[in-house]
Amino acid sequence: TVSLRDDYDLSQKIPSYGLRQGLTSYGDAHFSLFLRKVFIKALGYSEEALNRPIIGIINTQSSFSPCHANGSQLIEAAKRGILLAGGLPMDFPTISLHEAFSSPTSMFLRNLMSMDTEEMIRAQPMDACIMIGGCDKTVPAQLMGGISANKPVLPLITGPMLPGSFRGKRLGACTDCRNNWATYRAGGVDMEDIRAINEELAPTAGTCGVMGTASTMACITAALGMMPLEGASAPAVSSMRLRVAEATGLNAVKIVASGGALAPQSLLTKESFLNAIVVLQAIGGSTNAVVHLMAIINRHPALVNTINLDTFTEIGQRVPLIVDLKPSGDNYMSDFHNAGGMGALLLTLRPLLHLDTMTITGQTLGQVLNALPPSTGTFPYSKQIIRPLSDPLYPSSSLVVVRGNLAPNGAIIKASASKYRHLLSHTGPAVVFHNTADLASRIDDPDLNVTKSSVLVLQGVGPIGNPGMPEAGVIPIPRKLAADGVQDMLRISDGRMSGTAGGTIVLHISPESAIQESVFGIIQDGDMIGFDCIQRTIILQVDDNEIRRRIQSRIDSTREKVMLQNRIVRRGYRGLYERCVNQAETGADFDFLTASGPVSH
Ligand code: FES
Ligand code: MG
Repeated sequence: TVSLRDDYDLSQKIPSYGLRQGLTSYGDAHFSLFLRKVFIKALGYSEEALNRPIIGIINTQSSFSPCHANGSQLIEAAKRGILLAGGLPMDFPTISLHEAFSSPTSMFLRNLMSMDTEEMIRAQPMDACIMIGGCDKTVPAQLMGGISANKPVLPLITGPMLPGSFRGKRLGACTDCRNNWATYRAGGVDMEDIRAINEELAPTAGTCGVMGTASTMACITAALGMMPLEGASAPAVSSMRLRVAEATGLNAVKIVASGGALAPQSLLTKESFLNAIVVLQAIGGSTNAVVHLMAIINRHPALVNTINLDTFTEIGQRVPLIVDLKPSGDNYMSDFHNAGGMGALLLTLRPLLHLDTMTITGQTLGQVLNALPPSTGTFPYSKQIIRPLSDPLYPSSSLVVVRGNLAPNGAIIKASASKYRHLLSHTGPAVVFHNTADLASRIDDPDLNVTKSSVLVLQGVGPIGNPGMPEAGVIPIPRKLAADGVQDMLRISDGRMSGTAGGTIVLHISPESAIQESVFGIIQDGDMIGFDCIQRTIILQVDDNEIRRRIQSRIDSTREKVMLQNRIVRRGYRGLYERCVNQAETGADFDFLTASGPVSH
C-alpha cells in the first residue's frame, strides 16, 4: 500500500494505483495527483476512501433503453460488493445503444461505443472496470473496447425481461413481435388485438426475452469465463440479478488484488473462444454473434487470425442445438434460467469444452462446474429446456458458413431457424432488390414477377453499402404469396438479421455488393442461384466470362466512380465508418482498431 506522504514527496516515484494511475500529462506527476485530489475532494471523498483500489462502473442507463432500465439498481448492488471487499466504486457514463432507437442501425454505432468504452477506461484512473450492458450491440462494444484497453474488465449484464401474456398465450420480444406483425400483415389479427399484443411484448425492463443477440452474447460472455454463470440468464427484475451485481463488485476488487493477471488479454485464450462457439451452436444463437465474436477475437493481439468462420463450421459439425428457446424452439429466457441456465448447459456440454480455461473468479471453468450443486439441470423440466446431447432439437450445425462464387469470403445461415427445411437445398431464379428503398417500393407489388421458388436477393445492405449493415436480411414474403400461405422463401443478402428472427435466410455475404469486385453485386433478375446447406455452397449459376464482363462494366460506370468519390469525401463518423470498416467475416470493425492494424496506442 501507499502512504499519504508518498503523494507529495518528490523523491518518491508515484506508484500506479487507484487515483495515482494514468496521471494527466502536466509534466509534473505530483502536481497532477494534487490537482486530481482537489477535484475529487469536491465530491466529498476522504483520503481514506481514495487510498483504495478504484473500480470503475460503466453506466449505460438511458431513458432510451428499457433494456438497461435496471442500471441504477445494478450500480447500487455492484457498489455494495466493491465496498464490502475494500474497494472504491466510481461510476461514469458512456454511450448507450438501444436497438430501436439507434438510427440508421445500432450496428453503425457499435464501433463508436467500443472506442468510447476503450478510451474512457484508459483515460480515467481505475484498477478494474465493471461494464454494465445488455442490449444487443452494447456487450460486444464493451468487450471489444475492454480487450483493447486491457485493464481487468467485468461485464455486468442487465438481464432478460420476463415474458408477457395475451389471451393465455405467452409473448416475448422480439420473435413474437415479428410473428404477430407478420400475421397482422397477412390479415390474421385485427387492429384491436395487435394493439393489445403491442402492450404485452415487452412487459418488464430487461433485454429481449428469447435467444436473440442480447441473450446470445450474455451466454457467450459467461462461457468466456468473464462473469458469474447466473449472469447470463437471471431476469433483469430478479433479486438474483442484484446478487450477481454484488458478486461482480466483489470479483472486481479480488482481481485487482491478484495483480491484474486476469486482464482480458491474459484471461481470454483461443480455448475460451472455442468454448464460446460451442455454446453459440448449442443455444442456436444469433447470427449477429458471429460478426461480434470475430470483432472481439480480432481485438486480441494473441488471437487475431487464429479463429475464422471455418472454426464456426467445424465446431458446428459436432455440436447439436440443445436449448429449446425461440426463435429456433419454443421457450423464453426465464425458462432457460429456471432450468439451470448456463450451469446446466455447460454441464451438459462438458465433454465438448476446454475445462482448463480461466475465469474471472480465478478458478478454471472445470472448477466452477465442479462447484455447482450436483442436481443442477437434472430435473425433467430442465431436460425439456436444455436437452441432453443424445436428444437434441437440431442434430448439428445450427449456424452454418457457406461459400461459393457468390460469397468467396463466406456467408452465414441459421439453419435451425429455417421454416421450410426443403429450402436448405434449393435452386431458383433471383428476384433482385438493389437496396432497402427498392425493396420497400416493390415487394408488395401485385405485378412483381415472383413465385415461392424464387430466391429473394437484397443487395446494398453490407457494412459499407448501408453503413452499419442493417437487419434487413429478413426480406418480407411478398404480400401476394403471404396471402396464399407462403411463410418462408430462400432469401439472401449482404446484411444481417435480428437474432430473434427466423426463416431460410443467408446473410453477411462477403464481399458485399458495395465492393466493386463483388459477384453478389452483379446478380440480375432471373439468374439461377444454387444453395446447399449440407454441401455449404452458394453458387451464382452464371458463366465466369459473363460474371467478369458484368464486374468490368460496373467498374467502368460513372455511377460507381461517383460513389467511390463520395466515400472519400464524406464527413464525420459516417465518413470514418465507410472508409475504415472491414467486412463481416472479420467483424465489421474498423481496420485501425483491430489487433492486426496499427499496434501502438
Ligand atoms: Fe435491447 Fe432486444 S432491444 S435486447
Ligand atoms: Mg436484436
